[in-house]
Amino acid sequence: MASERYPPGPTKRLSGESTSASRRDSTSLLMQMAREYGDVVAFKLGRQDVVLLNHPDYVKDVLVTRHKQFIKGAPLQRAKRLLGEGLLTSEGDYHLQQRRLAQPAFHRARIAAFAQAISEHAARTGSRWRDGATVDMADEMMRLTLGVVSKTLFDADLEAEADELAQAFAEALEYYNLVMWTPEATERFARVRHQLDTLVYRLVDERQQSGWDRGDLLSMLLAGDNMTNEQLRDELMTIFVAGHETVANALTWTWYLLSQHPEADAQMHGELRAVLGGRQPDYDDLGRLTYTRQVFSESMRLYPPGWVIGRTSLSDYEVGGYIVPAGTVVLVSQYVMHRDPRYYPDPERFDPGRWTEEAVSSRPKYAYFPFGGGIRQCIGESMAWMEGVLVMATLAQDWRSRLLDGHPVETRPLVTLRPRHGMKMTLKRRAEPCLAG
Ligand code: HEM
Repeated sequence: MASERYPPGPTKRLSGESTSASRRDSTSLLMQMAREYGDVVAFKLGRQDVVLLNHPDYVKDVLVTRHKQFIKGAPLQRAKRLLGEGLLTSEGDYHLQQRRLAQPAFHRARIAAFAQAISEHAARTGSRWRDGATVDMADEMMRLTLGVVSKTLFDADLEAEADELAQAFAEALEYYNLVMWTPEATERFARVRHQLDTLVYRLVDERQQSGWDRGDLLSMLLAGDNMTNEQLRDELMTIFVAGHETVANALTWTWYLLSQHPEADAQMHGELRAVLGGRQPDYDDLGRLTYTRQVFSESMRLYPPGWVIGRTSLSDYEVGGYIVPAGTVVLVSQYVMHRDPRYYPDPERFDPGRWTEEAVSSRPKYAYFPFGGGIRQCIGESMAWMEGVLVMATLAQDWRSRLLDGHPVETRPLVTLRPRHGMKMTLKRRAEPCLAG
């Protein structure tokens, strides 16, 4: 019977070793499998059975409709070394309980209060930039989003206050990326984790002592008074990690894409001039910065910071006329889905025009899922959109950037999709608009 078939796929087993060698190509590997075998592809990674699903209906099925049939499973066990039982790593009823406690802190109305802080941090970055200087845009955006997350989470000015901490977080993030692939915990990580824990517990203690609602996420998480300090630590660390590098990557790829597409850059700048006329953007401007948002959407289509989502099936799972046995790792990949020519003709082409309302409504919802979906959907999605658009609007009003000649651009798909060699770019201050004209 057709419905009892095992999905097709490459017969050659991918060994753990060959995958680490080809990790630089894991996105191309998935692309190739989707092209060759279609919407349901089975393969072996070492001894693990893996199935890759490449259809928006199946993405929705796994993340939303039949999510109860899956857990996040093994890879998350390793991430727990940094994140404990935070939202990203916990499972089942405990996850649901924590999600309900944290949700109000991320309500759109509360998040709106962060708009000004975001624009101010972006303006601060701009004030450090010099015309003609060459910077690593990936570092610049990482530093900026670190400042934003410190401010919105802890009302702390870590950016100014602590290069040492920024360094510790950068190391922890590097480790967090590596820990997903390498089982050994290093001594270095233990030290970094201890340093971070000390800081986070100190900030929580201080806040509990003062009892002061500072309007940041920590105050909101404390408001419920339902979490132990350890639970708080895990959630704060999780938000810090999840809410910082993802946004930085999205922004870096956006700068890169704009540098390659002067017509889109000009159109976006035209919108910024018309809507903002030189002032800093605020929350109320978001609705009018439609093209800027389209640029950011298209950037996360081509370079989705979260490029693959993995789940483990708890029981036999029927999909597309195939049976996927219990214990299989099921993958859905934003990188692959977002490049599917059925939904994105000429998929490699950068075209913000794909994000007009009409164009969006002509596609299935889960042909685009940079923030996942269902009960595990990114809790910071509204904040990420706001941050992406406001940072670009603030900086691109005054600045263009050009890729340094000869700088290699390549993706590095770890937990997030980073630029492998950073992003060396030359800054160019835009000419003042001619007021007489
Ligand atoms: C462009 C930026 C971002 C992208 C692309 C992104 C992407 C994602 C994705 C794909 C997931 C789901 C993972 C899965 O289902 O396995 C997720 C979960 C999560 N994200 Fe984000 N994220 C971004 C920004 C943020 C921000 C700004 C925050 C917090 C301030 C945040 C906090 C979280 C948390 C806590 C989870 C776990 C949610 C849960 O399982 O209940 N993210 N994110």
